[in-house]
Amino acid sequence: MKEKIKEIHSKALSDISNVKVLDELTNIRNIYLSKKSELMSFMSKMKELSQEERISFGQLINSVKEDIASRIDERRKALEEEKLKEQLDKEVVDFTLPGRDYSKGSKHPFNTIVDQVSEIFIGMGYQIAEGPEVETDEFNFELLNVPKGHPARDMQDSFFIDESLLMRSQTSPVQARVMLSKNGVGPIKIISPGKVYRRDDDATHSHQFGQIEGLVIDKNINMGNLLSTLELFAKAMFGEKREVRMRSSYFPFTEPSVEADISCFECGGKGCSLCKGTGWIEILGAGMVHPNVLRMCGFDENEYQGFAFGIGIERVAMLKYGIDDIRKFYANDKRFNKQFNKE
Ligand code: DAH
Repeated sequence: MKEKIKEIHSKALSDISNVKVLDELTNIRNIYLSKKSELMSFMSKMKELSQEERISFGQLINSVKEDIASRIDERRKALEEEKLKEQLDKEVVDFTLPGRDYSKGSKHPFNTIVDQVSEIFIGMGYQIAEGPEVETDEFNFELLNVPKGHPARDMQDSFFIDESLLMRSQTSPVQARVMLSKNGVGPIKIISPGKVYRRDDDATHSHQFGQIEGLVIDKNINMGNLLSTLELFAKAMFGEKREVRMRSSYFPFTEPSVEADISCFECGGKGCSLCKGTGWIEILGAGMVHPNVLRMCGFDENEYQGFAFGIGIERVAMLKYGIDDIRKFYANDKRFNKQFNKE
């Protein structure tokens, strides 16, 4: 039997050294080392041997088995190296070839405006707050002093999911969310950029657009604070020379309510096509937070006051970049997006 094993051993070694392709090695491993191999079949014959013979015989089989396994591994490594070398010799890399061009995107003008506005208000000590786009009727309307049946709902009576849930029609519900989270204790100084949804559809109004809500709550806050804040913002955003004027308006959640205009940055106020000859451009809605809103959101209206404002993101971008159609913001045309900044 020992002779036979030696024979198998030397046959295996010569087979291994003759292997030229990696796959063949797996074959060889099966032939010589699998449970059904000739070598392993000797194991079952060990029962017939005496104790001493069994030990030396077992050792022989084991050492042959280990040797074959390690030769197979050696051969595998050698073949792998050979293959790699061959490949490297064959593949010539031409370092002088020009690189592959890839087209680089750029920041969307919507995000550019959000970032610019955020930076200005963060510089004034504001924090960024967020709210959900699927909002409850309570937050989107009720807590903002717009009860069911209020005529102000008409304009924003838009995408309801069920009776009490809708795609938010404004970012103002974030005001209520932040106030309620403060348990009646100020101060609050936040802005909240985000998407809103309405059933609008023309060149300057879309079913989805962005707003940036602003809210300040503290003791002794007055309209002077609102005006100076808007002036700082207008100058930082549209140039040092900008002036702000406030016109009386109506929003259910502010009292008094205003619409704020900035002096036209195109003509400086003389009158041009951008400002439609008026010298002023309407930029946002604002006002002093209504006492009902303060109370419903947990603040004592005799102790605290506040102001709020809402800016249309696309509107600012359209004015600043001279974009004529709001739908271009959602068309995902790279050529459009690329025009506005090269960041
Ligand atoms: N939410 C208003 C709208 O969508 C915009 C607005 C107006 C927000 C006045 C305010 C505000 O916070 O004070 O039309």
